[in-house]
Amino acid sequence: MSMQRVLTVGVVGLGYWGPNLARNFNQLPGCRLGALCDLDPERLEKMQLLYPDSACYVSFNQMLEEANLDAVVVAAPVHQHFPLGKAALLAGKHVLIEKPLASDSAECEELIALAERRGLILMVGHVFVYSAAVRMIRRIIDSGDIGDIRYINSQRLSLGLFHNDINVVWDLAPHDLSMILYLLGRSPDAVNCQGHANITPGIEDVANVSLSFECGRFATIQSSWLEPRKVRQMTIVGSSKMIVYDDIEPFEKIRIYDTRIERPAHYETFGDFQYTYHYGDSRIPRIEQIEPLRQMCQHFIDCSLSGAQPLSSGESGLEVVRILEACSISLKSNGRLVAIAESAHDGRRISGVMETRA
Ligand SMILES: NC(=O)c1ccc[n+]([C@@H]2O[C@H](COP(=O)([O-])OP(=O)(O)OC[C@H]3O[C@@H](n4cnc5c(N)ncnc54)[C@H](O)[C@@H]3O)[C@@H](O)[C@H]2O)c1
Repeated sequence: MSMQRVLTVGVVGLGYWGPNLARNFNQLPGCRLGALCDLDPERLEKMQLLYPDSACYVSFNQMLEEANLDAVVVAAPVHQHFPLGKAALLAGKHVLIEKPLASDSAECEELIALAERRGLILMVGHVFVYSAAVRMIRRIIDSGDIGDIRYINSQRLSLGLFHNDINVVWDLAPHDLSMILYLLGRSPDAVNCQGHANITPGIEDVANVSLSFECGRFATIQSSWLEPRKVRQMTIVGSSKMIVYDDIEPFEKIRIYDTRIERPAHYETFGDFQYTYHYGDSRIPRIEQIEPLRQMCQHFIDCSLSGAQPLSSGESGLEVVRILEACSISLKSNGRLVAIAESAHDGRRISGVMETRA
């Protein structure tokens, strides 16, 4: 009888988000929640009540040394992603790091190289690429049903949660960016970013990002911590149909509109010129009800056990951080167009992440 392999996982950072990761790793097959770590003993005490079989540590290094882990999940603040991720890789653990992968692209590159040298899995928590809705949109795009993608708009707005170490772009836009890159299958060449710090001096809480792609495609992202409603919406405009994805909707997350506008190919006089508006039916496809975070955690377990490259690999984490760095440069120069190649040189000096001010 063959023994099924089980991955022993430790979660570091048990503030707002970490408990959701701990819950999933505790429930999923092929995995054991071996240890929990947080600097705050009160957080640990609460978690110990929920997971009495997991060892608890205030010291991350002690967890690495003593807990006999195969993998570590990092859900600490962004400036801690690199030091904690690096220490875990050096200790021979597979690593899943929450988004964004690190504070700048140099850190991302170092983590990627280290994981590669040691033959370990490095994955970033781009949770939306594991959502059934986003995967369905990708399938619809790939099928050619909505034609050529012309434009994508993504909005992520709500009241808070305010951070004092990263701005709203570094906090929220990684989700939109990872989805846009996944849906289009390519990275932008340049970005513009404008924003404003309304509440905390120096930390933008509202921002607009524009992404330009070599192929002529265009995407915009609106990020805000200053909005009375919670909005999680994306519009994908194709040459023959359009899709609206509303992540707040519990069941009808995707609506496909048979809507388009055509310009006449030839016309003799201005009087002949007419746009053609096509208004067809809209359709709501059925989507599987599976928690994207659960899918993401299962994927990390599977990749760690099999050695397969994750969908949200370290490389995709780096791709997103390069764009965030370009956004930071653009923000500081009032929205000028910044080539991603330019940010690869300058972004490291101007990342959006500060050593904590908490
Ligand atoms: N995927 C998502 O939708 C999503 C949502 C929220 C947050 N996040 C990500 O999760 C991460 C954590 O965010 P949060 O909002 O939970 O932050 P938080 O501040 O609420 O929690 C962070 C926790 O990490 C602990 N911590 C900090 N440094 C530590 C260290 N060196 N060792 C052990 N513990 C340490 C703190 O004590 C705190 O309890 C961030 O990377 C954030 O981007 C992802």
